[in-house]
Amino acid sequence: MSAEPIFRENPSRKILFLLSFLSLISLSKTNDLQSLLKFKTSLRNSNTNVFNTWTPNQNSICNFTGITCNSDQTVKEINLSQQNLSGTLPLDAICSLQSIEKLSLGSNSLYGIVTEELSNCTKLQYLDLGMNSFAGKFPDLSSLTQLKFLNLNHSGFSGQFPWKSLENLTSLEFLSLGDNPFDWSPFPLEILNLHKLYRVYLTNSSLEGEIPEGIGNLTLLQNLELSYNQLSGKIPEGITKLKNLWQLELYSNQLSGKFPNGLGNLTNLINFDASTNSLEGDISEIKYLTKLVSLQLFENKFSGEIPIELGEFKSLTNLSLYTNKLTGSIPLNIGSYGNFTYIDVSENFLTGSIPPNMCKNGKMSELLMLQNKFTGGLPENYANCLSLNRLRVNNNSLSGKIPAGIWSLPNLSIIDLTMNQFEGPLSDNVGEAKSLAQLFLSHNQFSGELPATISESTSLVDIELVANQFSGEIPATIGNLKKLSNLHLENNLFSGTIPESLGSCVSLSDINLAGNLFSGKIPASIGSLRSLNSLNLSHNELSGKFQ
Ligand SMILES: *[C@@H]1O[C@H](CO)[C@@H](O)[C@H](O)[C@H]1NC(C)=O
Ligand SMILES: *[C@@H]1O[C@H](CO)[C@@H](O)[C@H](O)[C@H]1NC(C)=O
Ligand SMILES: *[C@@H]1O[C@H](CO)[C@@H](O)[C@H](O)[C@H]1NC(C)=O
Ligand SMILES: *[C@@H]1O[C@H](CO)[C@@H](O)[C@H](O)[C@H]1NC(C)=O
Ligand SMILES: *[C@@H]1O[C@H](CO)[C@@H](O)[C@H](O)[C@H]1NC(C)=O
Ligand SMILES: *[C@@H]1O[C@H](CO)[C@@H](O)[C@H](O)[C@H]1NC(C)=O
Ligand SMILES: *[C@@H]1O[C@H](CO)[C@@H](O)[C@H](O)[C@H]1NC(C)=O
Ligand SMILES: *[C@@H]1O[C@H](CO)[C@@H](O)[C@H](O)[C@H]1NC(C)=O
Ligand SMILES: *[C@@H]1O[C@H](CO)[C@@H](O)[C@H](O)[C@H]1NC(C)=O
Ligand SMILES: *[C@@H]1O[C@H](CO)[C@@H](O)[C@H](O)[C@H]1NC(C)=O
Ligand SMILES: *[C@@H]1O[C@H](CO)[C@@H](O)[C@H](O)[C@H]1NC(C)=O
Ligand SMILES: *[C@@H]1O[C@H](CO)[C@@H](O)[C@H](O)[C@H]1NC(C)=O
Repeated sequence: MSAEPIFRENPSRKILFLLSFLSLISLSKTNDLQSLLKFKTSLRNSNTNVFNTWTPNQNSICNFTGITCNSDQTVKEINLSQQNLSGTLPLDAICSLQSIEKLSLGSNSLYGIVTEELSNCTKLQYLDLGMNSFAGKFPDLSSLTQLKFLNLNHSGFSGQFPWKSLENLTSLEFLSLGDNPFDWSPFPLEILNLHKLYRVYLTNSSLEGEIPEGIGNLTLLQNLELSYNQLSGKIPEGITKLKNLWQLELYSNQLSGKFPNGLGNLTNLINFDASTNSLEGDISEIKYLTKLVSLQLFENKFSGEIPIELGEFKSLTNLSLYTNKLTGSIPLNIGSYGNFTYIDVSENFLTGSIPPNMCKNGKMSELLMLQNKFTGGLPENYANCLSLNRLRVNNNSLSGKIPAGIWSLPNLSIIDLTMNQFEGPLSDNVGEAKSLAQLFLSHNQFSGELPATISESTSLVDIELVANQFSGEIPATIGNLKKLSNLHLENNLFSGTIPESLGSCVSLSDINLAGNLFSGKIPASIGSLRSLNSLNLSHNELSGKFQ
């Protein structure tokens, strides 16, 4: 007997075969249509018009909005992300689409359980269910061996995530599971086998215990985010092998110990945030990370000096090192090159002077250097810093006069110079400070009068000038400050009568004028201030009854 297949010899068999092949195709097309219509039914209450084209009489399924087909007219992709879809996910229907490779339904309002039928979607390469309102456990993924992209972030999944089922998904490049209320689990060792990963987002996903040394296996990683967990122990040395990292986010964990040796090898880092941990030791390795744009190490126990090389970083915009134990001075060149925007080095033991060039490129928004031991003056350059929004240098040993232009900066909302040795006047251009809500000058050696133009600075809520040498009268124009809530002028040399117009500052809740040289009658208008909680006029030369 010949082993040759008979149909090769037989043309009618050949045709039969071809026919049945074609009908197989059209059968799967019909199946696909049924599946899509079931999907549509499940989402019928959505506030969207994407389904207007899903009309089988006028359109082929390949013309349905959000559907991409293969050349044989079977469904390859469903992409309906950000379409206001609402309803449950009929995975029995979706996963009976034999050729589906991409399912993108992120940023909708899908709810209910993601069912086991997902395991029939064996050709899926791309699955995005992020930013929805699902509930319950996420099902096993082990049969989705083609998966490259998995995004389930912020979608309401709970219980134990099936970490084990990821272990053979070695094609995975993108893994984002963060912001789901999973049960607590150790760092999933399974992902250390997924050598193609370039992005891992496991922020806020209930991980505890140590970051494994084997993280160094994931050498293609460019973006690793593990913030808002309860990871503890040291930052593993393995992390220093991830030379492609441009973003490393480790904030809000319980990491301790020193930076690993070789951190300086991560020379491609652009954003590095290890804030709010218990890290200690010096930060000298940062000096090699010359591409940094944002460096955030606040709320740790770091000590030693800020590396001088930081002053030469060309791209640095945000530097936040507050609440550590840093000593020494800030590199004087800091902010000179890039679009420097933000510095907060408060609550350290820093000395030396305020670097003069942080607003050189006119982008600086916040200058926060409170509670240190800085000396010298406020550099003249900042008088031109139109972008400046918050200026706080309280509780240092700064001195000298304030460059006049500072008082009138149009975007400044807070000036806090409290507890220094500044001197000189508050100049009358303060009226131009249209955004100024808080003027905190207490405990310095300021002198001169409170300018009448203060009344034009109509955003003011707090004026605190306690314990200076201000003198003269309170200008009658003060009544224009309708938002003014706290007026603290105690322990100065103010004199004259208290203006009747103070009663027009309708928001006043706290007035303290004690320890001045005020005289005359207490204006009756103060009695009509509805919000007033606290009034202290003691140690003056006032007369009359206050009703
Ligand atoms: C989603 O709903 C909002 C509010 O109802 C509507 O403004 C928007 O156009 C809708 N978007 C889509 C893609 O249908
Ligand atoms: C798909 O839509 C195009 C244009 O909207 C139309 O010309 C074409 O006939 C449609 N094809 C099918 C198979 O419905
Ligand atoms: C989905 O479609 C939108 C616009 O129609 C497009 O911007 C987006 O890249 C697509 N997403 C995927 C995963 O194909
Ligand atoms: C979370 O999912 C949404 C919706 O797909 C996406 O736009 C966003 O980029 C995702 N975020 C992360 C960190 O993966
Ligand atoms: C997968 O599909 C087959 C038929 O193609 C079906 O018998 C089976 O129940 C499905 N499995 C799941 C988990 O839905
Ligand atoms: C992964 O593959 C190994 C080897 O083929 C197998 O023993 C194991 O069960 C697989 N894991 C999962 C979760 O399927
Ligand atoms: C953490 O994720 C939960 C959802 O599980 C979310 O409500 C919460 O806002 C997230 N926390 C942060 C800090 O983003
Ligand atoms: C790291 O990768 C190697 C091979 O590439 C593998 O043998 C080892 O098990 C991996 N380490 C971990 C912790 O997964
Ligand atoms: C980078 O790593 C190599 C070893 O791979 C080491 O010899 C070198 O000191 C490291 N460089 C820095 C700046 O840490
Ligand atoms: C940098 O600081 C600016 C101004 O405060 C802020 O808007 C921006 O989000 C910060 N960027 C980073 C990466 O922290
Ligand atoms: C500053 O920002 C501009 C865009 O706003 C950008 O073109 C420029 O490259 C940045 N400069 C530096 C030094 O990063
Ligand atoms: C000023 O800073 C010191 C530490 O330098 C701190 O003990 C003190 O509480 C701070 N005072 C105020 C009013 O913030």
